[in-house]
Amino acid sequence: MKAAVLYEYGQPLVVEEVELDPPKAGEVHVRVAAAGVCRSDLHVMKGEAPQPLPIVLGHEASAVVLDVGEGVTSVKPGDRIITPFVSSCGRCTSCLTGHANLCDAHSATAGAMFDGTTRLHKGEQRIHHMSKVTCFAQEAIVPDKSCVILPDDVPMPQAALIGCCVTTGVGAATESVQVRPGSTVAVIGCGGVGVNVLQGARLQNAGKIIAVDINEGALEFAMRFGATHTVNPTQQDPVQRVKEITNGLGVDYAFEVFGSAETVTNAFNMVRKGGTAVVVGLAPADELAGVDTVALVRQEKTLKGSYYGGARPAVDMPSIIEMYRSGKINIDDLITRQYKLDDINEAYADLERGVVGRGVITEF
Ligand SMILES: NC(=O)c1ccc[n+]([C@@H]2O[C@H](COP(=O)([O-])OP(=O)(O)OC[C@H]3O[C@@H](n4cnc5c(N)ncnc54)[C@H](O)[C@@H]3O)[C@@H](O)[C@H]2O)c1
Ligand SMILES: [Zn+2]
Ligand SMILES: [Zn+2]
Repeated sequence: MKAAVLYEYGQPLVVEEVELDPPKAGEVHVRVAAAGVCRSDLHVMKGEAPQPLPIVLGHEASAVVLDVGEGVTSVKPGDRIITPFVSSCGRCTSCLTGHANLCDAHSATAGAMFDGTTRLHKGEQRIHHMSKVTCFAQEAIVPDKSCVILPDDVPMPQAALIGCCVTTGVGAATESVQVRPGSTVAVIGCGGVGVNVLQGARLQNAGKIIAVDINEGALEFAMRFGATHTVNPTQQDPVQRVKEITNGLGVDYAFEVFGSAETVTNAFNMVRKGGTAVVVGLAPADELAGVDTVALVRQEKTLKGSYYGGARPAVDMPSIIEMYRSGKINIDDLITRQYKLDDINEAYADLERGVVGRGVITEF
């Protein structure tokens, strides 16, 4: 089958034929239907988020079940599913305490399946799995435990986005912190994930919702997803401007959704006394962000991370699907471009160039 393989950091993905072994016990063989173009894969391509190489990337997916391994009863051939980018084992401390997004067994087996082995190879060469999803390929093997079955009326590209950016963004504002009605919110970085934080803040009935982005196009786009104000850091100091908009106080919640030390520091500095800065973006692995430790104490600020929107996919994805079906969450307008797997490098060049909205691979 065809897959896009990353052999070396900083090099284009190679779209080529690779072999996929059959599913083992507890695994599912799927045909990928749609795969979102998320910045997290770009971090891996650039070496900012190291993974074992070579690897097939892609972690935002919808798929159709082709066949199942031994003992699998949760899905059957023909089922349409979302394949979450954190599979939960259901047995570790994180899973058992309601933090399926932090599953210990999942993170302990990064780049491979739960048993530590891989199903992908090219001849003798072992190829690793991104997030146990590997959707930049025609087919994939995924763990059965995490599959979320889709209702018939949810289109596959929209479903794929629920696999990462929608759940991550909405959940940051509704689960990781529960934004209070009427409160003030800033979102730094309004790409695929950031606009979903805006939607999450709107769902929580936030008051002022301030979009912060260096790209004017992204700011215009943000207004359609709940932003009430916009700030462009290339034109004005974002911390000062956010304070002006909030009567000199700063916001109750600032979400960092780009991934850099500088924007994390800005998020921390633009929250008011007692406020919370939530970091969603993944900064390069070696970057440390500066935090004013006196403000942290004297102003009782909170600095919090948010991974996968704090989601328990089995519980939260069905409710996100319902909010999409009832028009409370807009995913249709988020999809601004569709690509063939063969054009994956172009899809990532567009992401880096700042083309607004989400790209989705829909032809394999
Ligand atoms: N926490 C999680 O579970 C999780 C999940 C998915 C993605 N992520 C991370 O979230 C981040 C965003 O991902 P995405 O797919 O939305 O990316 P994206 O490329 O679609 O969006 C990033 C946005 O940030 C803007 N930006 C760039 N520099 C900026 C700056 N200095 N100030 C303000 N805005 C700036 C860009 O113009 C763009 O609109 C990435 O770091 C990604 O790895 C985290
Ligand atoms: Zn993602
Ligand atoms: Zn677990």
